[in-house]
Amino acid sequence: MKERVRKQILDFKPYTPGLTLEDIREKYGVEQVIKLASNENPLGVSPVVQKVLGRRAAEVFRYPQNHSPRLAAALAQRLGVTPDMVVVGNGSDEIIDMLYRVVAEPGRDNVVCYEHSFSMYRMCAKLCGVEYREVPRGHGLGLPLADLARVADEHTALVIVTSPDNPTGLAATAKELGELARALPEGALLVVDGAYAEFARPEEVYEAAPRLAELENLVLLRTFSKAYGLAGLRLGYGVMPAWLASYLRRARIPFTVNLAAEAAGLAALEDETFLNETLRVVWQGRDYLASALAEMGCEVTPSQANFLMFRPPSDAEALFENLLRRGIIVRHLKSFGLPEHLRVNVGTGRENAAFAAACKELL
Ligand SMILES: Cc1ncc(COP(=O)(O)O)c(C=O)c1O
Repeated sequence: MKERVRKQILDFKPYTPGLTLEDIREKYGVEQVIKLASNENPLGVSPVVQKVLGRRAAEVFRYPQNHSPRLAAALAQRLGVTPDMVVVGNGSDEIIDMLYRVVAEPGRDNVVCYEHSFSMYRMCAKLCGVEYREVPRGHGLGLPLADLARVADEHTALVIVTSPDNPTGLAATAKELGELARALPEGALLVVDGAYAEFARPEEVYEAAPRLAELENLVLLRTFSKAYGLAGLRLGYGVMPAWLASYLRRARIPFTVNLAAEAAGLAALEDETFLNETLRVVWQGRDYLASALAEMGCEVTPSQANFLMFRPPSDAEALFENLLRRGIIVRHLKSFGLPEHLRVNVGTGRENAAFAAACKELL
């Protein structure tokens, strides 16, 4: 019966998530585990959000409102767009998946991205049966924006840029993104995955939302998983031209965003104290880690995100394994095609110091 399975699925490589605390406790028998591998919020969950979740627990026997209209309206107001331009999803992963399924024609269309990127883009291409075109980054691992436009053609459905980029932390300016959107062939959408957008400064240089009004082919993706500390609830959104948003809503599975997630998202948007404290802790920790790693002889890529990519002076995989033995989880970037690099997200002051001390000993 295996022949029943579609050929795209038979050799499908599943997503490799970062290791969990439980994985490490079990494997290495360590009690204290520090997880700096999945770019989660160093402060955990906002206390305001926790209270709201408690209050709303008694309501979860009800279905949520389909398409989370209250959250879409709140997001629209913040971004200066109309609510019909916002699609809320079960993580931004769901919006990525929906975009492919709505605009990319299997067997005909292609999606253009650059190498060493977030693996979901390739996975969705494979699942949908569309060609995935990968542009080389060159030596500095920068964002090859002009090359993306060169590789796109009349069958390009999506061109994807992650900014700030995962795993490098490099960011494209709003001006550069606007130029790229204008340079694409007619019919190609520019998707800017801003999972880490809140961490980039100066905001007026990097925030692409004001360009939505003038560009018909721009799609922005955002998430509550990072700066808002809600990774476990799965909540993200896309902002796009209203005609496209309406097709995504039409074709989607109902109720993928649950009642608790919508309530938490609304509360998280209101809790500016938590967001500002998150940004302060991340920026401070990022500076601390960048200089500590550079002092140890690591090549550190300047980051606009809540993590740093670095290349240690000795074997990256050995450093990764030895950190694990001490209960510290970072990300070895082998799965991104960068086996000589590691990625560490900013943790609390104590976690950053423990990571830096362990690296110093090991290097
Ligand atoms: C670049 C990028 N896009 C999207 C996501 C997925 O975010 P979400 O948790 O909203 O699905 C991640 C998660 O790590 C990411 O790094």
